[in-house]
Amino acid sequence: MEDQPLDSAEKEGVSRRLFLQGAGAAAAAAGISRIPGEVLAEEARSREITELGPEAEKITLKVNGSDKSAAAPPSTTLLDFLRNDLGVTGPKRVCDRGSCGACTVLLDGRVVDSCSMLAVDAVGKEVTTVEGIGTPDNLSQLQKAFIEKDALQCGFCTPGMVVACTAILNENPKPTRDQIRDGLCGNLCRCGTYQNIVEAVESVSRTGGK
Ligand code: FES
Ligand code: FES
Repeated sequence: MEDQPLDSAEKEGVSRRLFLQGAGAAAAAAGISRIPGEVLAEEARSREITELGPEAEKITLKVNGSDKSAAAPPSTTLLDFLRNDLGVTGPKRVCDRGSCGACTVLLDGRVVDSCSMLAVDAVGKEVTTVEGIGTPDNLSQLQKAFIEKDALQCGFCTPGMVVACTAILNENPKPTRDQIRDGLCGNLCRCGTYQNIVEAVESVSRTGGK
């Protein structure tokens, strides 16, 4: 099969999008914010096969509202591409196997572990990292609440936690305490700040913010 530019390959992925939309609707109905690894794997299997690499290919992603490009082998994970090739270092590498959530980003508004998917599979989608949620000069309400509620210690899990909590509030502005805990089931905090994180989400929820 002839090599195709990534952008054109993405345009042909209509069935892939429909699959994700269906899977997303089913997951949303079940109250799940994180895209399960099985869904990503099934989505990858359902796409048309395009031979890429092993040499570096130009990959263009929409990250935090801007198109960003770099050349990288198609085997590059989204996490490595963001951190090493685009210099977007909010997502952290801890387990590198989809277990801890430190690398959490939003893909078209849904939570994913960026260490567990390929950068090429994010082509044509909106990638949002913690940098796209707030900046040091313009923190989101949730980020301010993390500070007010002392919801971080070492801070290594915090970017992923902020992204996951933002997704929870986007999906449900008035989550119950159990729904917040369920939404954070893929994010681990070795410092044990869970209760403070839940309180931060609850305080933002009370004001109707994000
Ligand atoms: S680094 Fe991705 S889930 Fe732990
Ligand atoms: S604040 Fe240290 S891992 Fe969560």
